[in-house]
Amino acid sequence: MDILRTVSEMQSYADAVHATGKTVGLVPTMGALHGGHLSLMDLALNHADRVVASIFVNPTQFGPGEDFEEYPRDLEGDADKLRERGVDVVFAPAADEMYPHNDHPTRPAPLAWVEVEEFDNVLCGKYREGHFRGVTTVVTKLFNACKPDVAVFGQKDAQQLAILKRMVDELLFDVEIVSAPIIREPDGLAMSSRNAYLNERHREQATVLYDAIQEAESAIRGGEQDANRVVRAMRDALDNAPDARVQYADVVNAGTLTSVETLDRGEDVLAAVAVYFGDTRLIDNVHVRVPAVSSTDAVSADSERAGSAGA
Ligand code: PAF
Repeated sequence: MDILRTVSEMQSYADAVHATGKTVGLVPTMGALHGGHLSLMDLALNHADRVVASIFVNPTQFGPGEDFEEYPRDLEGDADKLRERGVDVVFAPAADEMYPHNDHPTRPAPLAWVEVEEFDNVLCGKYREGHFRGVTTVVTKLFNACKPDVAVFGQKDAQQLAILKRMVDELLFDVEIVSAPIIREPDGLAMSSRNAYLNERHREQATVLYDAIQEAESAIRGGEQDANRVVRAMRDALDNAPDARVQYADVVNAGTLTSVETLDRGEDVLAAVAVYFGDTRLIDNVHVRVPAVSSTDAVSADSERAGSAGA
Protein backbone atom coordinates (compact mmCIF):
# COMPACT_ATOMS: atom_id res chain seq x y z
CA MET A 1 0.00 0.00 0.00
CA ASP A 2 1.46 3.35 -1.04
CA ILE A 3 1.14 6.57 0.91
CA LEU A 4 0.92 9.47 -1.55
CA ARG A 5 1.57 13.02 -0.38
CA THR A 6 1.04 15.22 -3.39
CA VAL A 7 -1.96 16.00 -5.57
CA SER A 8 -0.01 15.32 -8.74
CA GLU A 9 1.09 11.84 -7.54
CA MET A 10 -2.50 11.11 -6.56
CA GLN A 11 -3.89 12.26 -9.91
CA SER A 12 -1.32 10.16 -11.81
CA TYR A 13 -2.29 7.09 -9.79
CA ALA A 14 -6.01 7.61 -10.56
CA ASP A 15 -5.25 8.20 -14.26
CA ALA A 16 -3.23 4.96 -14.38
CA VAL A 17 -6.11 2.99 -12.79
CA HIS A 18 -8.63 4.48 -15.23
CA ALA A 19 -6.29 3.76 -18.19
CA THR A 20 -6.65 0.04 -17.44
CA GLY A 21 -10.44 0.36 -17.44
CA LYS A 22 -10.70 -0.02 -13.67
CA THR A 23 -12.53 2.16 -11.13
CA VAL A 24 -11.35 4.19 -8.16
CA GLY A 25 -13.25 4.27 -4.88
CA LEU A 26 -12.51 7.04 -2.37
CA VAL A 27 -13.12 7.09 1.38
CA PRO A 28 -12.38 10.59 2.68
CA THR A 29 -11.41 10.64 6.37
CA MET A 30 -9.65 12.82 8.89
CA GLY A 31 -7.79 9.80 10.30
CA ALA A 32 -7.96 8.44 13.89
CA LEU A 33 -9.61 5.47 12.25
CA HIS A 34 -12.06 3.24 14.13
CA GLY A 35 -14.38 0.38 13.21
CA GLY A 36 -16.85 2.76 11.58
CA HIS A 37 -14.21 4.00 9.13
CA LEU A 38 -13.09 0.44 8.42
CA SER A 39 -16.66 -0.50 7.47
CA LEU A 40 -16.56 2.36 4.92
CA MET A 41 -13.38 0.83 3.47
CA ASP A 42 -15.13 -2.54 3.12
CA LEU A 43 -18.00 -0.90 1.27
CA ALA A 44 -15.59 0.92 -1.05
CA LEU A 45 -13.73 -2.35 -1.74
CA ASN A 46 -17.08 -3.85 -2.80
CA HIS A 47 -17.90 -0.93 -5.09
CA ALA A 48 -14.58 -0.20 -6.83
CA ASP A 49 -11.51 -1.98 -8.21
CA ARG A 50 -9.00 0.19 -6.35
CA VAL A 51 -9.60 1.97 -3.05
CA VAL A 52 -8.02 5.21 -1.89
CA ALA A 53 -8.42 6.36 1.72
CA SER A 54 -7.64 10.02 2.22
CA ILE A 55 -6.41 11.23 5.59
CA PHE A 56 -6.49 14.98 5.99
CA VAL A 57 -7.54 16.95 9.07
CA ASN A 58 -9.21 19.75 7.18
CA PRO A 59 -8.66 23.10 8.91
CA THR A 60 -11.44 24.97 7.10
CA GLN A 61 -14.21 22.83 8.63
CA PHE A 62 -13.19 23.64 12.22
CA GLY A 63 -14.53 26.84 13.72
CA PRO A 64 -12.60 29.07 16.12
CA GLY A 65 -12.47 27.35 19.52
CA GLU A 66 -13.14 23.90 18.00
CA ASP A 67 -10.73 20.98 18.36
CA PHE A 68 -8.57 21.35 15.20
CA GLU A 69 -5.27 21.38 17.12
CA GLU A 70 -6.29 18.57 19.53
CA TYR A 71 -7.90 16.38 16.86
CA PRO A 72 -6.24 12.92 17.20
CA ARG A 73 -3.59 12.24 14.54
CA ASP A 74 -1.90 8.84 14.04
CA LEU A 75 -0.89 8.34 10.42
CA GLU A 76 1.27 5.29 11.13
CA GLY A 77 -1.41 3.49 13.14
CA ASP A 78 -4.05 4.40 10.55
CA ALA A 79 -1.85 3.15 7.70
CA ASP A 80 -1.43 -0.23 9.46
CA LYS A 81 -5.20 -0.63 9.79
CA LEU A 82 -5.77 0.34 6.15
CA ARG A 83 -3.07 -1.99 4.84
CA GLU A 84 -4.58 -4.88 6.78
CA ARG A 85 -8.03 -4.05 5.41
CA GLY A 86 -6.86 -4.22 1.79
CA VAL A 87 -6.91 -0.51 0.90
CA ASP A 88 -4.65 0.22 -2.09
CA VAL A 89 -3.50 3.79 -1.48
CA VAL A 90 -3.49 6.36 1.31
CA PHE A 91 -3.64 9.97 0.19
CA ALA A 92 -2.24 12.07 3.05
CA PRO A 93 -1.51 15.55 1.74
CA ALA A 94 -0.02 18.44 3.73
CA ALA A 95 -2.20 21.54 4.17
CA ASP A 96 -0.39 23.53 1.48
CA GLU A 97 -1.10 20.79 -1.09
CA MET A 98 -4.82 21.13 -0.44
CA TYR A 99 -4.82 24.88 0.08
CA PRO A 100 -2.30 26.38 -2.34
CA HIS A 101 -1.96 30.19 -2.34
CA ASN A 102 -2.22 30.24 1.44
CA ASP A 103 0.60 31.30 3.68
CA HIS A 104 -0.96 30.53 7.04
CA PRO A 105 0.26 27.10 8.20
CA THR A 106 -2.85 26.00 10.10
CA ARG A 107 -5.67 28.41 9.21
CA PRO A 108 -5.87 28.81 5.46
CA ALA A 109 -8.24 31.46 4.13
CA PRO A 110 -8.89 30.36 0.56
CA LEU A 111 -10.65 32.62 -1.93
CA ALA A 112 -12.32 29.69 -3.70
CA TRP A 113 -15.11 27.92 -1.82
CA VAL A 114 -17.82 25.41 -2.69
CA GLU A 115 -21.07 25.88 -0.84
CA VAL A 116 -24.52 24.31 -0.71
CA GLU A 117 -26.84 27.02 0.54
CA GLU A 118 -29.72 26.57 3.01
CA PHE A 119 -28.92 22.94 3.87
CA ASP A 120 -26.78 24.22 6.73
CA ASN A 121 -29.49 26.31 8.43
CA VAL A 122 -30.52 23.40 10.66
CA LEU A 123 -28.99 20.74 12.95
CA CYS A 124 -25.18 21.00 13.23
CA GLY A 125 -24.99 23.75 10.60
CA LYS A 126 -26.93 26.10 12.84
CA TYR A 127 -24.26 25.84 15.53
CA ARG A 128 -21.08 25.31 13.47
CA GLU A 129 -20.95 28.33 11.21
CA GLY A 130 -18.90 27.68 8.07
CA HIS A 131 -18.35 24.01 8.92
CA PHE A 132 -20.19 22.54 5.94
CA ARG A 133 -18.66 25.06 3.55
CA GLY A 134 -15.29 23.72 4.71
CA VAL A 135 -16.48 20.15 4.11
CA THR A 136 -17.90 20.75 0.62
CA THR A 137 -14.76 22.69 -0.35
CA VAL A 138 -12.34 20.01 0.81
CA VAL A 139 -14.40 17.15 -0.62
CA THR A 140 -14.40 18.92 -4.00
CA LYS A 141 -10.61 19.20 -3.78
CA LEU A 142 -10.36 15.52 -2.79
CA PHE A 143 -12.52 14.59 -5.78
CA ASN A 144 -10.24 16.62 -8.07
CA ALA A 145 -7.14 15.03 -6.58
CA CYS A 146 -8.32 11.41 -6.36
CA LYS A 147 -10.69 11.35 -9.38
CA PRO A 148 -12.99 8.74 -7.79
CA ASP A 149 -15.81 6.94 -9.59
CA VAL A 150 -17.38 6.15 -6.22
CA ALA A 151 -17.05 7.87 -2.84
CA VAL A 152 -18.24 6.44 0.48
CA PHE A 153 -19.54 8.53 3.40
CA GLY A 154 -21.09 7.45 6.70
CA GLN A 155 -24.73 8.00 7.66
CA LYS A 156 -23.45 9.00 11.10
CA ASP A 157 -22.80 12.45 9.61
CA ALA A 158 -26.26 12.56 8.08
CA GLN A 159 -26.28 16.30 7.38
CA GLN A 160 -22.87 16.09 5.71
CA LEU A 161 -24.11 13.21 3.57
CA ALA A 162 -27.27 15.08 2.47
CA ILE A 163 -25.23 18.19 1.65
CA LEU A 164 -22.64 16.24 -0.35
CA LYS A 165 -25.35 14.42 -2.30
CA ARG A 166 -26.91 17.75 -3.17
CA MET A 167 -23.51 19.18 -4.16
CA VAL A 168 -22.79 16.24 -6.45
CA ASP A 169 -26.26 16.51 -8.06
CA GLU A 170 -26.23 20.26 -8.56
CA LEU A 171 -22.62 20.59 -9.68
CA LEU A 172 -22.81 17.52 -11.97
CA PHE A 173 -19.91 15.65 -10.40
CA ASP A 174 -19.44 12.30 -12.09
CA VAL A 175 -19.10 10.49 -8.75
CA GLU A 176 -21.47 7.95 -7.23
CA ILE A 177 -22.08 8.64 -3.54
CA VAL A 178 -22.51 5.51 -1.44
CA SER A 179 -23.80 5.88 2.11
CA ALA A 180 -22.72 3.52 4.85
CA PRO A 181 -24.75 2.57 7.95
CA ILE A 182 -23.76 3.78 11.43
CA ILE A 183 -21.48 1.34 13.28
CA ARG A 184 -22.04 1.16 17.04
CA GLU A 185 -20.20 0.00 20.13
CA PRO A 186 -21.88 -2.98 21.89
CA ASP A 187 -23.81 -0.57 24.19
CA GLY A 188 -25.15 1.43 21.24
CA LEU A 189 -22.83 4.46 21.23
CA ALA A 190 -22.09 5.39 17.62
CA MET A 191 -18.39 5.00 16.81
CA SER A 192 -16.60 8.34 16.48
CA SER A 193 -13.02 9.56 16.69
CA ARG A 194 -14.22 12.00 19.36
CA ASN A 195 -15.34 9.17 21.71
CA ALA A 196 -11.66 8.95 22.70
CA TYR A 197 -12.01 12.33 24.48
CA LEU A 198 -14.68 11.01 26.92
CA ASN A 199 -13.78 10.23 30.52
CA GLU A 200 -15.24 7.08 32.10
CA ARG A 201 -18.25 8.82 33.65
CA HIS A 202 -19.18 10.60 30.41
CA ARG A 203 -18.57 7.47 28.34
CA GLU A 204 -21.12 5.62 30.50
CA GLN A 205 -23.71 8.37 30.13
CA ALA A 206 -23.11 8.82 26.40
CA THR A 207 -25.41 5.88 25.59
CA VAL A 208 -28.35 8.29 26.06
CA LEU A 209 -27.84 9.51 22.49
CA TYR A 210 -28.71 6.06 21.20
CA ASP A 211 -31.61 5.80 23.68
CA ALA A 212 -32.94 9.13 22.38
CA ILE A 213 -32.91 8.21 18.73
CA GLN A 214 -34.42 4.81 19.51
CA GLU A 215 -37.26 6.59 21.33
CA ALA A 216 -37.75 8.77 18.26
CA GLU A 217 -37.76 5.79 15.95
CA SER A 218 -40.30 3.82 17.97
CA ALA A 219 -42.57 6.87 18.37
CA ILE A 220 -42.54 7.51 14.60
CA ARG A 221 -43.01 3.85 13.72
CA GLY A 222 -45.84 3.74 16.27
CA GLY A 223 -47.70 6.43 14.30
CA GLU A 224 -46.62 9.67 16.03
CA GLN A 225 -46.87 12.49 13.51
CA ASP A 226 -46.30 15.47 15.78
CA ALA A 227 -42.60 16.36 15.51
CA ASN A 228 -42.71 18.21 18.84
CA ARG A 229 -43.76 15.06 20.65
CA VAL A 230 -40.95 13.10 19.00
CA VAL A 231 -38.50 15.81 20.09
CA ARG A 232 -39.88 15.66 23.64
CA ALA A 233 -39.36 11.88 23.71
CA MET A 234 -35.73 12.38 22.66
CA ARG A 235 -35.17 15.11 25.25
CA ASP A 236 -36.69 12.94 28.01
CA ALA A 237 -34.20 10.19 27.16
CA LEU A 238 -31.28 12.64 27.11
CA ASP A 239 -32.36 14.00 30.51
CA ASN A 240 -31.33 10.66 32.02
CA ALA A 241 -27.68 11.69 31.69
CA PRO A 242 -26.93 14.24 34.44
CA ASP A 243 -23.85 15.62 32.63
CA ALA A 244 -25.39 15.91 29.14
CA ARG A 245 -25.78 19.38 27.67
CA VAL A 246 -28.16 19.06 24.75
CA GLN A 247 -27.30 21.28 21.78
CA TYR A 248 -30.23 20.10 19.69
CA ALA A 249 -32.78 17.33 19.31
CA ASP A 250 -34.69 17.75 16.08
CA VAL A 251 -36.66 16.06 13.32
CA VAL A 252 -36.13 17.17 9.71
CA ASN A 253 -36.97 15.93 6.23
CA ALA A 254 -34.16 13.50 5.34
CA GLY A 255 -33.70 14.71 1.76
CA THR A 256 -34.04 18.49 2.06
CA LEU A 257 -33.16 18.87 5.75
CA THR A 258 -36.08 21.26 6.22
CA SER A 259 -37.71 21.32 9.65
CA VAL A 260 -40.95 19.43 9.97
CA GLU A 261 -43.87 20.13 12.32
CA THR A 262 -46.12 17.34 11.14
CA LEU A 263 -44.60 14.13 9.85
CA ASP A 264 -46.31 13.15 6.61
CA ARG A 265 -47.15 9.52 5.92
CA GLY A 266 -44.47 7.97 3.73
CA GLU A 267 -42.05 10.86 4.38
CA ASP A 268 -38.37 10.06 5.05
CA VAL A 269 -37.30 11.89 8.16
CA LEU A 270 -34.16 12.22 10.18
CA ALA A 271 -34.33 12.38 13.97
CA ALA A 272 -31.01 13.77 15.15
CA VAL A 273 -29.30 14.86 18.36
CA ALA A 274 -26.11 16.70 19.33
CA VAL A 275 -24.99 16.57 22.94
CA TYR A 276 -21.98 17.86 24.84
CA PHE A 277 -20.27 15.91 27.59
CA GLY A 278 -17.73 18.37 28.95
CA ASP A 279 -16.06 19.79 25.82
CA THR A 280 -16.82 16.73 23.73
CA ARG A 281 -19.63 17.07 21.25
CA LEU A 282 -21.34 13.85 20.13
CA ILE A 283 -23.96 13.39 17.43
CA ASP A 284 -26.30 10.60 16.44
CA ASN A 285 -29.31 10.15 14.19
CA VAL A 286 -31.80 7.73 12.76
CA HIS A 287 -33.39 7.77 9.33
CA VAL A 288 -37.04 6.64 9.48
CA ARG A 289 -39.79 6.37 6.89
CA VAL A 290 -43.05 7.54 8.46
CA PRO A 291 -45.45 4.58 8.14
CA ALA A 292 -47.93 4.90 5.28
CA VAL A 293 -50.70 3.74 7.61
CA SER A 294 -50.73 4.64 11.29
CA SER A 295 -50.91 1.82 13.83
CA THR A 296 -54.33 3.09 15.06
CA ASP A 297 -55.70 3.06 11.48
CA ALA A 298 -54.37 -0.48 11.10
CA VAL A 299 -56.09 -1.57 14.33
CA SER A 300 -59.44 -0.01 13.37
CA ALA A 301 -59.22 -1.48 9.86
CA ASP A 302 -58.61 -4.88 11.42
CA SER A 303 -61.57 -4.55 13.76
CA GLU A 304 -63.78 -3.33 10.89
CA ARG A 305 -62.77 -6.39 8.87
CA ALA A 306 -63.44 -8.62 11.90
CA GLY A 307 -66.82 -6.88 12.36
CA SER A 308 -67.90 -7.28 8.73
CA ALA A 309 -66.71 -10.91 8.71
CA GLY A 310 -69.04 -11.61 11.63
CA ALA A 311 -72.03 -9.81 10.03
O1 PAF B 1 -16.44 13.09 7.72
C1 PAF B 1 -15.25 13.49 7.79
O2 PAF B 1 -14.40 12.84 8.38
C2 PAF B 1 -14.87 14.81 7.12
O3 PAF B 1 -15.88 15.75 7.25
C3 PAF B 1 -14.47 14.64 5.63
C4 PAF B 1 -15.64 14.14 4.79
C5 PAF B 1 -13.31 13.67 5.54
C6 PAF B 1 -14.03 15.99 5.06
O4 PAF B 1 -12.94 16.50 5.74
